[in-house]
Amino acid sequence: MASEIYECLSKIAGIISENKDFLTELDREIGDSDHGINLARGFSAVMEKVNPEDADIGATLKKSGMTLLSKVGGASGPLYGTAYMEAGKVLAGKTELDAEGLKSAFEAAIAGIQKRGKAVKGEKTMLDAIIPAYETYSQKLSDGADMITALEAACNSAREGVEYTKTIIATKGRASYLGERSIGHQDPGATSSTLMLEAVLDVLKGK
Ligand SMILES: Nc1ncnc2c1ncn2[C@@H]1O[C@H](COP(=O)(O)OP(=O)(O)OP(=O)(O)O)[C@@H](O)[C@H]1O
Ligand SMILES: [Mg+2]
Repeated sequence: MASEIYECLSKIAGIISENKDFLTELDREIGDSDHGINLARGFSAVMEKVNPEDADIGATLKKSGMTLLSKVGGASGPLYGTAYMEAGKVLAGKTELDAEGLKSAFEAAIAGIQKRGKAVKGEKTMLDAIIPAYETYSQKLSDGADMITALEAACNSAREGVEYTKTIIATKGRASYLGERSIGHQDPGATSSTLMLEAVLDVLKGK
């Protein structure tokens, strides 16, 4: 049987591949038409590096992050690469994802993205999905929810975050060159990060 982390990565790779054209089309509207292509290339490289018996979540995420960093171009490669590597650091040695572990991984990933990309919420980036998702996840845990319930709510917030990116002007990355014309378009990175969270939820629900 494949490890939990392998199943998560494999699910993410599958969903990214299915949505490759969609993500690229979103990036055509406000960027340079490469987001889906970039990520699909990155995650197929990740799948070549990881093995079903890789059980250490931290080490596997670190390996995946390094692969994304080296194989995915543009802004999203270094940003996702850092996110996965930082999440990997806090989950080092863990073989099962628990509610608190996922919370710390979320925090570390966000901190890594912000350190690298210097963006905050409201700039029409992946953070507009990831930060609200984290906030909801964390709130739900404090309210006593279990991991899956909290992650389900977090995915809803991520999807709302994607909708929100349609209403705002991009102030980071290539999309910022469009100014007001970026309004009406959903952010590719917010969309891909929502897909990743949904993939993890799917795997955890199937357990
Ligand atoms: N500084 C940043 N912080 C967080 N996310 C960012 C930042 N800059 C860009 N992004 C995210 O990266 C996505 C674009 O990724 P892509 O793979 O297309 O790389 P790119 O073409 O080099 O990026 P960009 O168009 O931003 O220059 C955006 O949709 C946005 O979500
Ligand atoms: Mg692009």
